[in-house]
Amino acid sequence: MAPAGGRNGPSMRAPTGSKLKPGLTGRCAGWHGLLAPIKGGAAMAEDHIAKVMDEMPYGLYIIGSKMEGEVNGMMADWVMQVSFEPRLVAVAFENDAHTLHNIRSTNVFTINALSQNADSMDLAGKFAQPYYGAKIKGRTRMAADEIHHKLGGISHKPGANGCPILDAAMAWMECEAQHFVPTGDHTLVIAGVVEARLVKDAQPLTSSYTGWNYSG
Ligand SMILES: Cc1cc2nc3c(=O)[nH]c(=O)nc-3n(C[C@H](O)[C@H](O)[C@H](O)COP(=O)(O)O)c2cc1C
Repeated sequence: MAPAGGRNGPSMRAPTGSKLKPGLTGRCAGWHGLLAPIKGGAAMAEDHIAKVMDEMPYGLYIIGSKMEGEVNGMMADWVMQVSFEPRLVAVAFENDAHTLHNIRSTNVFTINALSQNADSMDLAGKFAQPYYGAKIKGRTRMAADEIHHKLGGISHKPGANGCPILDAAMAWMECEAQHFVPTGDHTLVIAGVVEARLVKDAQPLTSSYTGWNYSG
């Protein structure tokens, strides 16, 4: 699947059909501010910040969620471990993500890791679509009215918490949300890991491998 947009351009490199980079307006100077003098005012600083943040490497995951008998999957790379004891992970969700809505209602989700190969990239690309077509601005009325049942035709089974585990996953975790922290245009969900499996020994899919940026 061909990523769209330039690496440091105004839009993120992403699978076709995905939502473009949310207009980030972060004001944090960040660690890179210690290394590079900021010239040319706020706009220039924003450019530097976006460029450096584009260099941060991420893993690429499919977050599984459920709500009233329906399961959903979304692509996410803002996923990380945040504690050893207890074992906690954090995922940052767009405030209007359908997945976040599901997790707020059920408190549970899965994290699926895919392996580095072309088939996994094709599969992952399907999960960049929003559940509600209307989430992507500028769509025709018909496309905006569409609901994407992204797991249709994709082999998966429910985990013990009812959220989808992809047959193609090289590893998965079942998570229970503990905290919802507002973080600008995203909400950070901090969750306990209650079950996990390494299904096969493989290299996990990363933003460096796919070239898809969700950052800046
Ligand atoms: C490479 C890539 C990484 C992404 N990472 C995240 C992320 O970490 N958090 C997030 O909320 N959205 C992320 N997105 C956007 C979501 O995948 C997208 O908004 C999705 O449509 C939401 O699905 P939902 O409406 O089913 O919840 C990413 C998109 C791409 C292309």
